[in-house]
Amino acid sequence: MPKKHLPSTVYEDVTELPPSRTARNRVKRAAHSAGLAVEDQLEPSLGVDEARSSRFLGVEGATVSFGQGDARIWPLRGVSVMFERGKLSLVMGPSGSGKTTLLSMLGCLLSPDEGSVFVDDVLVNQLSETEKTAIRQKKIGFVFQAFRLFHSLSAIDNVALGFELRDPKQSQRLEMARQLLDQFGLGDKCNQEPNELSPGERQRVAVARALAGDPPILLADEPTASLDAQAGRNICQILRNQVDEHGRTVVVVSHDPRWRKFADRTITLCDGQVEQEERNL
Ligand SMILES: Nc1ncnc2c1ncn2[C@@H]1O[C@H](COP(=O)(O)OP(=O)(O)O)[C@@H](O)[C@H]1O
Ligand SMILES: [Mg+2]
Repeated sequence: MPKKHLPSTVYEDVTELPPSRTARNRVKRAAHSAGLAVEDQLEPSLGVDEARSSRFLGVEGATVSFGQGDARIWPLRGVSVMFERGKLSLVMGPSGSGKTTLLSMLGCLLSPDEGSVFVDDVLVNQLSETEKTAIRQKKIGFVFQAFRLFHSLSAIDNVALGFELRDPKQSQRLEMARQLLDQFGLGDKCNQEPNELSPGERQRVAVARALAGDPPILLADEPTASLDAQAGRNICQILRNQVDEHGRTVVVVSHDPRWRKFADRTITLCDGQVEQEERNL
């Protein structure tokens, strides 16, 4: 049985993508690897009114399995956790405890075998792939440990691509990309390619790209794991500011204990279940 989620293969650079028949397909596949999947029909009728609820972002009774027969594993078993609007929530837990699996559900990249997933008050796991793509595109920015920038594009073009993929009609994208990079102290690095930037600078470009189009929700998977202490703190502060100054809802998955003092709430996963929930701020 094929699993009901999008391909998990991740390409670090648009030039590494296997050949595809059309340039449009190539861009679509590159965009997917950056969590920015696009579809030809960008604004489907979501049919979500009846699915509305007071649950902003989270999962209820979510069980996920991978594999079959003796090889079947259950990374999450009946997990229920809701993330508050306008807060920074931290998900901690040992490697293999299901953190990325949980984030993939919140990002509409993976549907649970059982249970419900809510994004922006909408029950998303009953929606079609096209509808989920539209939600991902309008509502969610992704940040990853490995940055996932396109190595052959300059910093400003990476961010401008974020704007283009969310809204192809956006004609001010270079200007807006420059403003975002400026905000993150990279105004003088706009024309550098990722391999000319430090890891901390690359991650700031990746955060700028994730924010292109002003999504209300930001999901970050181990965003500081490849960074030194100072660059890591910088990213913690930037994501905290997204909550305090822009009212975004941020979920960070991390092993890194430095995140605790930037988070409103910490959820600890263990063996596919919520072990502990604490309020920090
Ligand atoms: N696509 C997949 N196919 C098979 N097993 C997977 C897949 N994704 C994750 N897993 C397994 O699920 C478990 C939880 O993984 P993950 O959510 O990545 O944990 P964490 O992010 O906490 O390290 C691990 O045992 C991992 O090997
Ligand atoms: Mg992980």
